[in-house]
Amino acid sequence: VSEKNRDFNFIVLNGPNLNLLGLREPDVYGNLTLDKINELVIAEADVLGVGVDLYQSNHEGALVDKIQDALGKFNAIIINPGAYTHTSVAIRDAIKGVGLPCVEVHLSNIYAREAFRSHSYISPVCVGQIAGLGYMGYLLAMRGLKEIVSKSKSH
Ligand code: DQA
Repeated sequence: VSEKNRDFNFIVLNGPNLNLLGLREPDVYGNLTLDKINELVIAEADVLGVGVDLYQSNHEGALVDKIQDALGKFNAIIINPGAYTHTSVAIRDAIKGVGLPCVEVHLSNIYAREAFRSHSYISPVCVGQIAGLGYMGYLLAMRGLKEIVSKSKSH
């Protein structure tokens, strides 16, 4: 976890069952473990000069706590809420509540799967969503958020 550049400090949150990556439905989610994806996230953060913190939880309230806690510590949030995408008003309200720019990431293309995955409670409170690009989604989210945060600083 590098915190080289205090201007850009992002937190990457992963929700339930994402700790099972590598093992879990590899045809849908790929072969990389969450640890491996996190290594790639840290490497990209270094390239971008962004500090990054990483957190995974299977618990909705723990994710809400982390989002609330981000205020004053981080200037952007990247979240893969897992199944909470489709159920959690609490996570949505937390993101809206802290007001930090947030990008929602999904490894799979949630719009090409079961109908219940096509609705996200989270996307209306995010600046954007990336779905279907596998682990690249996290890297692209950091790139986009760096641009968004730097623009908001120059105002
Ligand atoms: C997911 C998609 C969700 O529908 C699912 O519940 C997950 C993973 C994704 O990364 O593609 O746990 O968020």
